[in-house]
Amino acid sequence: MTRKLIIDCDPGQDDAINLFLALPPTDDYEILGITVVAGNVGLDKVSRNARLLCELTGRTDIPVYEGCAAPLKYPLVTAEEVHSREGLEGVELFEPSVKAQSQNAVDFIIETLMAAEDKSITLLPTGPLTNIAAALQKEPAIAGKIQEIVLMGGALREGGNITPSAEFNIYVDPHAAQIVFDSGCQCIVFGLDVTHQVLSSDAVLERIKAVDNEVAQTAYNLLTFYGRYDAEKYGSNGAPLHDPCTMAYILKPELFDLKACNIRVEADSELTRGHTAVDFWYATELPRNSLWAYKVDADGFFDLLVGQLGKY
Ligand code: RIB
Ligand code: CA
Repeated sequence: MTRKLIIDCDPGQDDAINLFLALPPTDDYEILGITVVAGNVGLDKVSRNARLLCELTGRTDIPVYEGCAAPLKYPLVTAEEVHSREGLEGVELFEPSVKAQSQNAVDFIIETLMAAEDKSITLLPTGPLTNIAAALQKEPAIAGKIQEIVLMGGALREGGNITPSAEFNIYVDPHAAQIVFDSGCQCIVFGLDVTHQVLSSDAVLERIKAVDNEVAQTAYNLLTFYGRYDAEKYGSNGAPLHDPCTMAYILKPELFDLKACNIRVEADSELTRGHTAVDFWYATELPRNSLWAYKVDADGFFDLLVGQLGKY
């Protein structure tokens, strides 16, 4: 049976690369819709960016839905310093020809899931988990309709990227993250521990630049800009490809090593808000609510990325 996906994102440089991984036409899966959430930049810009990326890849057939403009409880925190004021740097911005759907993303997620078979739709959130949590709160029955939630978020050994102990997506909306981890759905979690193993190095950029189509050249430009912030911050050669780990898992799960762990989220402490307490060594008897990705075949990951870019 063709796998059905809903991609929830906040494009965002690495969200864009994740969409490039996902959008080549295929019979292997069907993207039912792209939902956007405020995160890297505000809702209007992530919506424009998602629709622009659909147009760039020739996928205006995929509907884009606008979701939550702010986290469940906290004020919105954005990341323009990483993703630029417009959320996409290295792309010639234009107003997409396709408008966002009139239906709110949260209602689209609920309506689509409630009309589906049990455990038949996979959610791929790569931004704050606000839309997913809002849908679970509004209609808890959707949990039984979800095959997997394949999400980018969290950190264990790597420490945080927005505070010393928290990764950005979870930090922005820790209350939403806890709702998702407590939902009973199978969560496949790609945190900084694994995403920092796939850096867009100069060698990778040269491979992407050698792919002769507009999407690949756009990916090259996006990653060239994106790399500078993390390179300065971590002294690394290239930027971590956080969000593309989610779609890489859908396309080639064998690239990753996963371990069943309990994950809880600190939602209220000022010092450690957004921290993901990943029980990797089973210090507790708590239910193992997630599969935590801790290792990736980086060469295989980049072969996959270059291969997908070559399909445009
Ligand atoms: O911490 C990395 C995550 O935060 C990625 O999803 C990136 O796009 C930002 O949203
Ligand atoms: Ca993101």
